[in-house]
Amino acid sequence: MNDQGIKIPVWILGFFGIAVLAGIITVAVTIITCKEPARNADLRTASGQEIIAAEVVVKPENTAAAVANGDASYTAACAACHGANQEGVVGPSLADADWLHGSDENTVFRNISKGISAEVAKTGKGAMPAKGLNPGLTDAQVWEIVFFLESKNKSIKAK
Ligand code: HEC
Repeated sequence: MNDQGIKIPVWILGFFGIAVLAGIITVAVTIITCKEPARNADLRTASGQEIIAAEVVVKPENTAAAVANGDASYTAACAACHGANQEGVVGPSLADADWLHGSDENTVFRNISKGISAEVAKTGKGAMPAKGLNPGLTDAQVWEIVFFLESKNKSIKAK
């Protein structure tokens, strides 16, 4: 009797336990699923700017493959004005340590992607067109060009 008295409540408790647990999980899942859209909306209104800004600039890894891609993009988009070996043609040399508009990599990235307007240009040879007139270049591709330039010119300060 004693034995059964103990065994039966254990089974019942087991069933109760599982039933209660399942109930809690169902309620929790329902609450989470119901609240999710509201939470997302709150996030967007509270910090929509930051989320968008974080998505726009994609800086890839500085790998050998990225440098090789940058080399190809440079040849197609930049070499005509800056020279096959970055020695400078219409645009100034990108191979020396003289930087008219800044030498840290974020600044170089910005100068390439936004260009340099005629108002702030310093060489007297006109503006630097944004992305060398290749609007199809993505941010990641511009970074690859920066990595390529860094591989050739140690005066660019990487961050
Ligand atoms: C149509 C010609 C032209 C093309 C194409 C061009 N540039 Fe330029 N670039 C210039 C000129 C001109 C300047 C100098 C502006 C000035 O007088 O300050 C310049 C300046 C720069 C600078 C600033 C240099 C410094 O000393 O601070 C960088 C970096 C640069 N170019 C990179 C590039 C890259 C990378 C590409 C290819 C995506 C490219 N340019 C395509 C003409 C060009």
